[in-house]
Amino acid sequence: MKLRTKDFLTLNELSKNELAGIIDDAIKLKKDLKAGICKPLLKNKTLAMIFQKPSTRTRVSFETGMFQLGGHALSLTSDELQLARGETIEDTSKTLSRYVDIMMARVYLHEEIEILAKNSTIPVINGLSDSFHPCQILADLMTIKEKKKKLAGLKLAWIGDGNNVCNSMIYGCAKSGIDIDIATPKGYAPDSKVVKESKELVDIKLLNDPLIAVKNADVVATDTFVSIHHQATDRTKDFLPKFQINPDLMKKADPHAIFLHCLPAKRGQEVTSSVIDGRQSVVWDEAENRLHAQKALMVALLQV
Ligand code: CP
Ligand code: NVA
Repeated sequence: MKLRTKDFLTLNELSKNELAGIIDDAIKLKKDLKAGICKPLLKNKTLAMIFQKPSTRTRVSFETGMFQLGGHALSLTSDELQLARGETIEDTSKTLSRYVDIMMARVYLHEEIEILAKNSTIPVINGLSDSFHPCQILADLMTIKEKKKKLAGLKLAWIGDGNNVCNSMIYGCAKSGIDIDIATPKGYAPDSKVVKESKELVDIKLLNDPLIAVKNADVVATDTFVSIHHQATDRTKDFLPKFQINPDLMKKADPHAIFLHCLPAKRGQEVTSSVIDGRQSVVWDEAENRLHAQKALMVALLQV
């Protein structure tokens, strides 16, 4: 699978076929790994990972994925780079481009990852910005496909904050033919440009009532009410109790609906333990699939 885009910043860079191809490649890589097959497709390639914020899944899945593909990964926090002493993102990007083959960065402002990509000669992957989390959605779509055996024609309900994960979810669903109902408190709707663009491909409803959004949903998804870039604000009161995913809300979805959460979860806030640990939850497969989806993504971006 060769991609037209150099970088992967929002998920909207991918065509429908490219997205479907990466998901299928990821499913194949997962199957191979479980069968003990692990081809060194990225032998001698190095990934530089820059983290401005904490991470468990993104860091460990990228580093492990690169190792499994025969390459090497460097994890760099922004305070140990000269960025901390005022070197510009532009100069950092140009420098890293001379050493490594591919970069992944987790940043505060989406603008920062755009600057990194613009100044690099190598592919740049967004490992989460305040506006998008595209790697998460590759894993989410892969998980939905594994569980439901298809993507097009499904309905997904997003409940809670119209945040970075939600924005990439909208692009991902639109490119996969999944209709999406989004229930947020007033003032917490997702990015209007993302919604407008995606409405051309699938049915998207912006709602304020979770009970309406989950009706007939095949997938129910949420995320924390307080993202890392919102940590200084008290937003939880605007979401509770109405936007919590609990057994009563899950009962209103399709009886075979699955529950997704990118994690980390705040149990007792956006989701109860009974749901996240319950029979409909697929969150551990979803977390695992970050590994396989990102391996497929790196292989595709490096055009090997
Ligand atoms: N879902 C996700 O990106 O998790 P981390 O913040 O642990 O990387
Ligand atoms: N919306 C969350 C996702 C964490 C993986 C955040 O930005 O903190």
